[in-house]
Amino acid sequence: MAVVAGQPRLIVRGGRRLSGAVAVSGAKNSALKLMVASLLAPGASVLRNVPDIQDVRTMQEVLEHLGAVVEFADGTMTVDTAEVQSHVAPYELVQRMRASIQIMGPLVARFGRARVAMPGGCNLGPRKIDIHLRGLADMGGTIRSDHGFVEVAADRLRAINMFLDYPSVGATENLLMAAVLAEGTTTLENAAREPEIVDLCKFLVSMGADIEGAGSSTLRINGVSEMHPAEHTVLGDRIEAGTFLIAGAVTGGDVEVTGISPHVLELFLFKLRSVGVQVQENTRSIKASGDPRSYGGVDVATLPYPGFATDLQAQMMVLLSIAKGVSVVTENVFENRFGFVDELIRLGAEIRVDGNHAVVSGGRSLTGAIVRCPDLRAGAALAIAGLAAEGCTELREVYHIDRGYEQFEQKLQALGADVERVGVGSGPCSSL
Ligand code: UD1
Repeated sequence: MAVVAGQPRLIVRGGRRLSGAVAVSGAKNSALKLMVASLLAPGASVLRNVPDIQDVRTMQEVLEHLGAVVEFADGTMTVDTAEVQSHVAPYELVQRMRASIQIMGPLVARFGRARVAMPGGCNLGPRKIDIHLRGLADMGGTIRSDHGFVEVAADRLRAINMFLDYPSVGATENLLMAAVLAEGTTTLENAAREPEIVDLCKFLVSMGADIEGAGSSTLRINGVSEMHPAEHTVLGDRIEAGTFLIAGAVTGGDVEVTGISPHVLELFLFKLRSVGVQVQENTRSIKASGDPRSYGGVDVATLPYPGFATDLQAQMMVLLSIAKGVSVVTENVFENRFGFVDELIRLGAEIRVDGNHAVVSGGRSLTGAIVRCPDLRAGAALAIAGLAAEGCTELREVYHIDRGYEQFEQKLQALGADVERVGVGSGPCSSL
């Protein structure tokens, strides 16, 4: 396997017990939408606890491309949208980060027009935007597509009653942000209920929106004629929290994640306990510890919130690979989200994939190998597998991890992990 010039790699030497506390960063999937929501009002909104990750930097570029002035330092971001001129998200940015399509709702709502490159497929399968577009069309938007772009235009959007075909996170957010400035009362049924949507609703309300039902599957939005800038602190990242809890558990360690409410991880924590991990919940922190020799398999099926998060499926698969017994993991949210399984098998896991089911024969001892990160969460999972493995693991294409984890290896190092980032040339795993 050739080393790609200039691409950093992570070197993980397994076998160390992780121990200590780690503060989770602000949630990626909330911060990105809050940044976009600031487009709804002219002036400067302030967001705190924003994670300094690549996706946030890409969204910053998207907003700057539109004409916003963005300042970002020490977790505080100011987005000044007073001078926004453009309504176009170019291919180069949308292709780098699909969440760029979330600008559609707010741009049409405030400026009457949005033109966004179509995201196309990605390595999680063909992620469609039909629900986003159907909602915007029902609200009176004229939808056109040409040259790989989709354009939505409307003088003023009008309220709708819509039953979403599926509780899509992105569609719920896009339509919510469109509805806050629409004429009349919009009802979104079968809406997504993710904590990040609740966070978005809170920010929108502080900007002057009138929303009922945040956190339930029915959102009622009374349109207002204008919004104003506001300040907001991003909620903690439940996926990052879950990732570090599993990292501790697979090493037989004792890890506490702080800055997160256990209730946003309820089913995940139930599954950890079912495996045999000891979990202690506090108001704003969670502690997990255990002995991998006593872990047993469980079945897991991903579902929209409050179901088991698809973004924790890959990390869970690592834990189930070392837990004794057979586990069945069913992926219901995305197609092609088992792309990392072949890499995990290179580390010694025994997994058979059949459609959207993966049968994990656990109780395996993992051994270090060279692996590539196929996507963000899979990258984190493979790093976790490296921590549990005997010997040295070399992770390639780690830019995927940098999209969504702030100071990933520094946080692991602080817990006692032997992880380092290396540049080009032969790395310390060159014996592999
Ligand atoms: C968001 C999260 C992602 C998480 C996912 C599910 C962000 C930036 N990303 O992604 O990390 O894994 O929620 O929790 O917040 N679908 C349609 N038509 C649509 C929209 C979606 O068929 O119009 C399908 C998708 O193809 C996919 C499923 O619905 O199979 C889930 O997608 P969605 O909930 O929209 O996820 P995202 O918002 O893309």
